[in-house]
Amino acid sequence: MDLIFATHNPNKVLEVQKQLDQSFNILALSDLDYHTEIPEPYETLEENALQKAKTISRVFKKICFSDDTGLFVPALNGAPGVYSARYAGPKASALENMEKLCAAMELKQDRRAYFKTVIALQTLKGFHFFEGMVWGTIAREPVGTGGFGYDPIFIPQGYDQSFAMLPQKIKQEIGHRGKAIRALTSFLKTL
Ligand code: IMP
Repeated sequence: MDLIFATHNPNKVLEVQKQLDQSFNILALSDLDYHTEIPEPYETLEENALQKAKTISRVFKKICFSDDTGLFVPALNGAPGVYSARYAGPKASALENMEKLCAAMELKQDRRAYFKTVIALQTLKGFHFFEGMVWGTIAREPVGTGGFGYDPIFIPQGYDQSFAMLPQKIKQEIGHRGKAIRALTSFLKTL
């Protein structure tokens, strides 16, 4: 089955490709030569994910899914949350976002945080949501070179290394996107 993954993020494509079985042929936007930015104008992960899936499904007339992810920190009233990509500004790099978050957390005792991923699937008949989350804590500074985004400052519960230090397989097993992808896969098998 051909499935479009509506993302421009090659790291996300790699994570998802590794997890979906051979019966699904993932087409990334780069495979389709689609380079237009898809806006994320909403205040919820669900609305942003659905907007991306709907837009691309309409353009290519194929089943399409998209994910939107945020890092939610209770001690910061849920920030950066849905605004995780542009926490330190509209074109902020991952390092700038992490530095801003580490500074905001400097005096906080409660260092808990969770990643949440919402996947929106747009079929030719309608749409569905799947989600996954993982709790952990925010490190004092970035550590590790693997992963992407906020991985170097996120230490998942039960581990003492960041997602950027742990093997990718562990991130897939316990992580937000992995859980959401497994829920999506179970559903796709019923189609
Ligand atoms: P989006 O889902 O691409 O909008 O991602 C929002 C922000 O969260 C971006 O800054 C991403 O780099 C970051 N992000 C998304 N997924 C992950 C992840 O699995 N680990 C770490 N950061 C992530």
